[in-house]
Amino acid sequence: MITQKTLIIGANSDIGKAISTEIERSENTGLILISRRLTNDNSADGDAQSLNVKKIMVKDYQAQSIDQAIIELAAYDDAPITRVFVCNGILHNENVQPEKRLEDFDVESFQQVITSNTLTPMLWIQKLTSLLTGKLPCKFVVFSARVGSISDNRLGGWYSYRASKAALNMMIKTAAIEFARRAKNIKLIAFHPGTTDTPLSKPFQKNVPSNKLFTSEFVAKQLLDIVENAPVDQTASYLDWEGKSINW
Ligand SMILES: NC(=O)c1ccc[n+]([C@@H]2O[C@H](COP(=O)([O-])OP(=O)(O)OC[C@H]3O[C@@H](n4cnc5c(N)ncnc54)[C@H](OP(=O)(O)O)[C@@H]3O)[C@@H](O)[C@H]2O)c1
Repeated sequence: MITQKTLIIGANSDIGKAISTEIERSENTGLILISRRLTNDNSADGDAQSLNVKKIMVKDYQAQSIDQAIIELAAYDDAPITRVFVCNGILHNENVQPEKRLEDFDVESFQQVITSNTLTPMLWIQKLTSLLTGKLPCKFVVFSARVGSISDNRLGGWYSYRASKAALNMMIKTAAIEFARRAKNIKLIAFHPGTTDTPLSKPFQKNVPSNKLFTSEFVAKQLLDIVENAPVDQTASYLDWEGKSINW
């Protein structure tokens, strides 16, 4: 019987898949995976442990689809959710490329980036709070990035991605202030995985030294360790893959 559950949102992210694989390998914890696409590599289908894995498909990450997923989630009330990972984030897709200079900035691209990187995690925080508030600690991780640090911005470029992650950081700083009053058991963490070998970073890996390009498996293990050790201290943390604080 399981006594705790972990929720992974945007579970088709390469890092999200590595988190679920690591949890299935090393823990007897319930897992709930939420994604627009769930394939067999999103957990060991056919494996005995996958009995503890529930999957919820969403059409997209609009508010209505999230509401529907929350209804399904609430039906799995066998054990409390004690960890949440929101992996969603885009840097590029068929319509979006990170900007090198002002002339590259495009309103529609910016709207796509801010929608997936800021609004999607914010809606999950908003809609999950009542399910997560309780006596047991709940660690809630959103995937940010170091480039979202306003004080660390020395290179410039990537206007939309930077702004979306900076806005996400501000959302969680603000939510943590509210949680200190009304959901003291929830710890919010904005996490920077470091450059990790996934589809998101693929086109930008050329100048990354090999010892600075991490595997998703490495990052997943680091993150699970960081989450385990993070105190529930009614403040938001902005942490990198080593567990070191990043200046906001
Ligand atoms: N890889 C890196 O070097 C790196 C560095 C710094 C920060 N990060 C952050 O780490 C997180 C995970 O990234 P990854 O490297 O694992 O990337 P990935 O494999 O490309 O995963 C992409 C993620 O974004 C979601 N997504 C894609 N399009 C979306 C849309 N239109 N609306 C909402 N969500 C959408 C996917 O959700 P579905 O499951 O529904 O497909 C999935 O969770 C991201 O937030 C990224 O910004 C990554």
